[in-house]
Amino acid sequence: LRKKNLTPAVFEQVKDRKTSSGVTLKACINSGLVNTDSGVGVYAGDEETYKVFEPLFGPLIEDYHKGFKITDKHPSDMDESHLTAPNPDPEGKYILSTRIRVARNLRGYPLQPTNTLDGLKAIEKKVTESLATFEGELKGTYYPLQGMDEATAQKLIDDHFLFKKGDRFLEAAGINQAWPEGRGIFHDDAKTFLVWVNEEDQLRIISMQNGGDIGAVFARLCKAVNTMNKHFEFQHTENLGYLSSCPTNLGTGMRASVHIKIPNASAHADFKKICDEYHIQPRGIHGEHSETAGGVYDISNKRRLGLSEVQCVQDMFNGG
Ligand code: ADP
Ligand code: ARG
Repeated sequence: LRKKNLTPAVFEQVKDRKTSSGVTLKACINSGLVNTDSGVGVYAGDEETYKVFEPLFGPLIEDYHKGFKITDKHPSDMDESHLTAPNPDPEGKYILSTRIRVARNLRGYPLQPTNTLDGLKAIEKKVTESLATFEGELKGTYYPLQGMDEATAQKLIDDHFLFKKGDRFLEAAGINQAWPEGRGIFHDDAKTFLVWVNEEDQLRIISMQNGGDIGAVFARLCKAVNTMNKHFEFQHTENLGYLSSCPTNLGTGMRASVHIKIPNASAHADFKKICDEYHIQPRGIHGEHSETAGGVYDISNKRRLGLSEVQCVQDMFNGG
């Protein structure tokens, strides 16, 4: 998307620009320059990046979040009673699990490519102190990455709960600095409510469980996010919604997915075309940039900006 949208004219317009915290064009596009198999290839270093480099980011955002115009206002709806998504597979024949996450960044800190170790640590402290007060279904424990033994970390990754280490796209965007300091995962005993701290975004708030009860997963996420809104102020603008370091995660910051067995559909010649038509994105069984196994795919909503959270989940439900 960067290659398509950074035309010679746009390049001339933005090549010498810089945000007040020093984010350059080179910093924004380095991940895609290093990783030529990128689908998107840009990251924003701070809130101002989206304004200062709008000649590049604006068209790219409209390209990814089909139907959204950069001048539009972004809507929000986290009322689970507005969702119509009854379990599509109550017998558990196809859907292994359901997961919905949102990305968030705290106001007052840069986005991750320009964050500092002090910033990461301050965020970790602030977030974990608040999470420690959560009760009931949201009660859990924080596990910092630093000091976690390899086997425990690897098991959490293999079981789909924890982010992976050494992502080359994040590395080239400057997001893996001082790893693993300041990073960690909070979760309840059942691992149905989880919060990733200081990965690609400062926070990833996650609700997940086995099976296809999308409504229950969404309801838990609504409860978690509404509780977190009382504790934190997140970076947010009227037209871009919640801000994120990657433009694909703007708006709702939401990716709602199912792990679903579709060996025949995925082998169909028109699989990609059908996914595009329904605004869904297939990923491998171990998440983005991973291969799949046994015809099980991670199917999720592709658009996250210009439509509400309820509509994002609805996109995944309709497509799946
Ligand atoms: P993100 O969800 O933040 O965009 P990834 O695509 O890397 O990032 O996914 C993160 C992890 O979540 C991976 O281990 C992936 O397999 C897991 N995951 C995603 N969707 C589901 C799901 N529906 N059920 C179980 N695990 C899932
Ligand atoms: N930068 C990577 C690419 O262009 C990932 C883009 C979307 N995913 C993400 N995790 N932000 O392929």
